[in-house]
Amino acid sequence: MKNAAGLDLFCGVGGFALNLASILGQVYGVEVSKPAISAAKRAANYSGIKNVSFAAGDAGTMLESVCPVLGKKPEAVVVNPPRRGIGTGICEWISRLSPSVVVYSSCNPLSLQKDLSRLEGYRVKQAQLFDMFPHTSHAEVMVLAVKK
Ligand SMILES: C[S@@+](CC[C@H](N)C(=O)[O-])C[C@H]1O[C@@H](n2cnc3c(N)ncnc32)[C@H](O)[C@@H]1O
Repeated sequence: MKNAAGLDLFCGVGGFALNLASILGQVYGVEVSKPAISAAKRAANYSGIKNVSFAAGDAGTMLESVCPVLGKKPEAVVVNPPRRGIGTGICEWISRLSPSVVVYSSCNPLSLQKDLSRLEGYRVKQAQLFDMFPHTSHAEVMVLAVKK
C-alpha cells in the first residue's frame, strides 16, 4: 500500500490521517477548523510523519482540488463528519472517484444510513459499534465499505 494515497475528510486534529500515514504512501486531510489543522500539523511534525499534509477548508468545496495535490487517485477515503453526515455532494464525488475502500466513522446512525445508500457502487463489508459516549444513547459506528 506504500504506493497508494488516502484522504481523511473532516479530519479534525488528524487522528485518522496520522494513522493512515503508516500504511499508505501519502495522506491528505481536510478540515474546516484552522486551529484543528494547526494541531494536526504540529502532531505530524512532533511524530516525524512526513507523508501527510493537511489543509483548512470546507470538505465539500475542496474536493476538486484535492486529487491534483495528491497527484494520484486516493485508494482509501476516510470520512468522520459531524452528525449531519457527508450529504449527497460528497457521496457522489466519492462514487465518481471510486477509491477501493471508504471508511465511514459516524456518530449518527440516521445520517450514516442515508449516506451509505447514496454511495453508489459500494457495499458494507464490516461495521463496528464503539461505545464512546458511555451512559448516553449515543455511539460511534465505523463502517468499511468496499467496491461491489
Ligand atoms: C467528528 S469530528 C472529526 C474528528 C477527527 N476524526 C479527529 O481525529 O479529530 C468532525 C469534524 O468535521 C469538521 N467539519 C465540520 N464541517 C466541515 C466541513 N464543511 N468541511 C470540513 N470539515 C468540517 C469539524 O470541525 C470537526 O472537526
